[in-house]
Amino acid sequence: MESLNANLLHPRQRVGESMPRWREADGGEALRLAAQDPAAVLATVQDADLRGLGGSGFPVWRKWQAVASEAPRPDKYLVCNGNEDEPGTFKDRLLLEETPHQVIEGALLAALATGINRIVFYINPDLPRSLAALKAALAQWQGSDMLEQASAVLGRPLTMTLVPGSGHYIGGEETAAMEWIEGKFPFPRGKPPYPAQFGIHGCPTLINNIETLANIPAIVRHGADWFRNLGIGHATGSKLYSLSGDVLHPGVYELPMGTTLHDLIFTHGGGLLSGKPLKAVFTGGPSNTLLTPADLDVGLDFESLRERGANLGTGAMIVVSEGTGIVKRVAEYMRFFAHSSCGQCVSCKTGTATLSRLIERIDTGRGTADDLVTIESLCRMLPGSGRCHLVNGVAQLVDSSFRHFRHEYQQALK
Ligand SMILES: Cc1cc2nc3c(=O)[nH]c(=O)nc-3n(C[C@H](O)[C@H](O)[C@H](O)COP(=O)(O)O)c2cc1C
Repeated sequence: MESLNANLLHPRQRVGESMPRWREADGGEALRLAAQDPAAVLATVQDADLRGLGGSGFPVWRKWQAVASEAPRPDKYLVCNGNEDEPGTFKDRLLLEETPHQVIEGALLAALATGINRIVFYINPDLPRSLAALKAALAQWQGSDMLEQASAVLGRPLTMTLVPGSGHYIGGEETAAMEWIEGKFPFPRGKPPYPAQFGIHGCPTLINNIETLANIPAIVRHGADWFRNLGIGHATGSKLYSLSGDVLHPGVYELPMGTTLHDLIFTHGGGLLSGKPLKAVFTGGPSNTLLTPADLDVGLDFESLRERGANLGTGAMIVVSEGTGIVKRVAEYMRFFAHSSCGQCVSCKTGTATLSRLIERIDTGRGTADDLVTIESLCRMLPGSGRCHLVNGVAQLVDSSFRHFRHEYQQALK
């Protein structure tokens, strides 16, 4: 795991659950600053152009403003989303393990900026080290002067609770998370109403990713310009990229947002295993678009990837070397996604299952030319047909594998 940008993973911040060591590293300073002018936090986050790092890239300040403008009914909630369950994404668990106080301070800053009084840390139940570190860190905040001061600024008690998730990938979707926190199965809800208007128990609810929240303390301490300048070109801030697959040094790399795919794989990741040529990169996790060697020059940020018809997603890059069959890999991911569909929306339940079955059939040499036609029309029909984005991501994955590697599907038919 490497930190080359000295922001979220700065060695001074990586003190685990030790609150004294974290305070020596200016921990708590941002809360002290925010106590003087909580409304300024939202304006600073807006100027910093911080985006949601849980996959959407949505401007953080816009969701914050929506929640800030709602009255408590009787509460307002923040869900800190650490469900992290998609293949190839493993960054939030590192933040929770190594710098949980930074995440907690970020959550409290978000709460003060938006008038939230109930914070829920919603964490993947299969990450025992992350859960233990966060639990130990939270215990140190309970009854601390910093939490008391934050409650005093808010004008009511601020509560922080830890809720292990359901163990389902779909449980990371924001409305599914709210259902689980309410004690129900994590079925995504239809939208509107949006969480900002009608969230947990009908209260205004903000939901942000762990990495998003971890960025707030440094933005408040150092200012919007400092954060913007961490990125390359028009991109702002730094990014935790989860690098895995056929690379020499897989891991989490904190690099300037907008670092090129080439730099990530070859400069930091040490290149491909056995010096093999690059064939493709599944981005996202894989519920996204494929990149190819023609994209090695692309900056890994929201806008640059969008210009290539791709998405940054969570910043997961799964590297595939020449010699690996794309159809087989897509078939593996499709098994995961078909299994992950909650089954609520017929199009998603049958669409993901059908795609999985057809691609499996092609991969095992039993496919027909008609299967290719069916897959293509499903990729056109499915996006937008479900309550949540699961089916959209699946269609993107299959569609982009078709666009770049259609010849492999055709070969597999023979
Ligand atoms: C199927 C599915 C799974 C998701 N899983 C996660 C997750 O594990 N963590 C996460 O932060 N966001 C996840 N999201 C995105 C959330 O719905 C939401 O956009 C995000 O938590 C908002 O935080 P951000 O604005 O800080 O990115 C998922 C979305 C979908 C459709």
